[in-house]
Amino acid sequence: MTFQEEILLGIPAQLPEAKPYDKEINHAPKRKDILTAEQKVLALKNALRYFPKELHEALAPEFAAELKAYGRIYMYRYRPSYPMYARPVDEYPAKSRQAAAIMAMIQNNLDPRVAQHPHELIIYGGNGAIFQNWAQYRLVMQYLATMTDDQTLVMYSGHPLGLFPSHKDAPRVIVTNGMVIPNYSKPDDWERFNALGVSQYGQMTAGSYMYIGPQGIVHGTTITVMNAARKVRAVMAGHDRPSQTPGQAGGDERALLFVTAGLGGMSGAQPKAGNIAGVVSVTAEINPKAAEKRYAQGWVDELHPNLDELIPRIRKAVANKEVVSLAYVGNVVDLWERLASEHIHVDLGSDQTSLHNPWAGGYYPVGYTLEQSKEMMADDPDAFRCAVQESLRRQVAAINKLADDGMYFFDYGNAFLLESSRAKADILLPDGRFRYPSYVQDIMGPMYFDYGFGPFRWVCMSEKPSDLQKTDEIAMRVLGEIAAHSPEEIAGQMRDNIRWIEEAGRNNLVVGSQARILYADCEGRTQIALAFNEAIRKGELEGPVVLGRDHHDVSGTDSPFRETSNIYDGSQFTADMAVQNVIGDGFRGATWVSIHNGGGVGWGEVINGGFGMVIDGSEDSARHIREMLFWDVNNGIARRSWARNSAARFAIEREMARTPGLRVTLPNLADEDLIRKNLD
Ligand SMILES: NC(=O)c1ccc[n+]([C@@H]2O[C@H](COP(=O)([O-])OP(=O)(O)OC[C@H]3O[C@@H](n4cnc5c(N)ncnc54)[C@H](O)[C@@H]3O)[C@@H](O)[C@H]2O)c1
Repeated sequence: MTFQEEILLGIPAQLPEAKPYDKEINHAPKRKDILTAEQKVLALKNALRYFPKELHEALAPEFAAELKAYGRIYMYRYRPSYPMYARPVDEYPAKSRQAAAIMAMIQNNLDPRVAQHPHELIIYGGNGAIFQNWAQYRLVMQYLATMTDDQTLVMYSGHPLGLFPSHKDAPRVIVTNGMVIPNYSKPDDWERFNALGVSQYGQMTAGSYMYIGPQGIVHGTTITVMNAARKVRAVMAGHDRPSQTPGQAGGDERALLFVTAGLGGMSGAQPKAGNIAGVVSVTAEINPKAAEKRYAQGWVDELHPNLDELIPRIRKAVANKEVVSLAYVGNVVDLWERLASEHIHVDLGSDQTSLHNPWAGGYYPVGYTLEQSKEMMADDPDAFRCAVQESLRRQVAAINKLADDGMYFFDYGNAFLLESSRAKADILLPDGRFRYPSYVQDIMGPMYFDYGFGPFRWVCMSEKPSDLQKTDEIAMRVLGEIAAHSPEEIAGQMRDNIRWIEEAGRNNLVVGSQARILYADCEGRTQIALAFNEAIRKGELEGPVVLGRDHHDVSGTDSPFRETSNIYDGSQFTADMAVQNVIGDGFRGATWVSIHNGGGVGWGEVINGGFGMVIDGSEDSARHIREMLFWDVNNGIARRSWARNSAARFAIEREMARTPGLRVTLPNLADEDLIRKNLD
């Protein structure tokens, strides 16, 4: 059977051959045994509804065995027989080119080079799923292959509800992931609903088909570490504003030491970012496989399994002002405690373990081997929870000591502060605020999101490196033109982005599809997209382009401990912005939209949304770009301005001055002394 025939077949009427369990592949951990006996009956009944009755006798024991062994029913037998990777868009069987592009995006996400646990349909972050099982994948691909531009595919947490008549300007796909009644949004609710086969955790870009491998995070991590280093250097130099010159260990300046944890899917970008920022970095990683993978890929320079030997190496690197990334293969708590007891001066500190998922393998407690932790997690979840919380208390105590000696510590969007406070670690100030800022409060919020800069990305549907190179050149030219008239407030951001795109090709960042990420504001995103559309129209690019973004952006995400942690008017626990964003994108030209529960920080903690847009050189595409990208950025700027964020106020007033039809409600600023006097 050809690739096209297998896609068109959907779920075959005959039982396909069983697929052997591939031990070479990285598999998802066994999930918690959470269902009651009656709920297990329901889970099997739910799984079997994808298949004709005559197959139930064969499938029921198989699915029961999967549920027992893995805590989920993945339907391994239904994995397709063709290799999984994104083909050039014209190779897909399709009546809609937009739908064909979505098929390519789905296959890229599931590509074993890209996905974390490809056979369990987990794309990244340990539990970020694209579908719950292989039956859903097969059905979705069949729907996409047969739909027209007058239909919309409706996706409920990986399950295709079906095709519904719509029109050519409507999204081809609408995705919701993990939308639950708010009172049922605790981590165990996810475990239960997911095991029942009725909901999934879509992370940010996993469940929206927009993950593009590690490149997606390198740029954001680089600008965060670079600006954190600038901040520390500015304080050292006695300035109150960070300079825009990248810190370099060399010259007269002393080297900066950056300590953090995690060499996983996205955290693995930290050492590379440390090198680009010109610091000495030390990253702890407990899993030797993850550490070795990053070392083999050249993302970290040295691995050190022993603290007695690592500590003198750190001292030497700092003394010699080396730009080097060191990894400690062990538990980060041991590293922090040793640094504190040795009184080593740490300049920058953070953590990127997967604390959005603390009870199911995101964070490994100190004092236990990786294997002991994995066993405890499945066999004695209560003991595991206590061990994690004790570990966090010790980690925070050591971090506090180093912070007292001048370390700048920031939360890196992994719920470290939140989970530490829940563990009753010494992380709160007397007024109830966290002792440390999040990277959004200090860096990404005021310098990027409030001005509308966010992780704009594109994927070349011809899958040709030459097309990616041409798009890089176009983006560079467009940004250069915009930078020539940019106001001083965003000149530094523009410079960083131009430097990034100039070097992106040389840095060999592509894994999977021919994709690129770039932080840009509304003007940048729109002008770059229009220039791509023009290049497609003229035949300079050989295929359509998919535009999209991470949900980690100015408008897409309401996340009180991350993207909206620099909102101070009390509205950081509301989710109107994210919901409005997806609705607005949906009727302004997105090809697909998605709204998720929990992306990045964990189930129940955030609502986040995103979009994908296929552009093909047409006038319709140009209209969609102008209308949708404008809303997709300015919705968030307007909300941030209403929250009294001064950079956002500047950005929205600038936008109103040049955009007819835009009228945003602006806040009046009250005198705090006046208010306090009246409340005494
Ligand atoms: N700020 C951002 O922009 C941003 C971006 C991406 C990810 N995140 C968050 O960062 C976290 C990490 O993401 P990821 O994709 O790298 O996850 P991941 O699970 O792939 O990697 C985390 C790594 O931490 C290691 N680890 C866990 N506990 C440890 C311990 N005690 N000591 C040493 N190592 C330990 C794990 O072995 C794993 O390799 C997630 O919570 C994610 O949501 C934030």
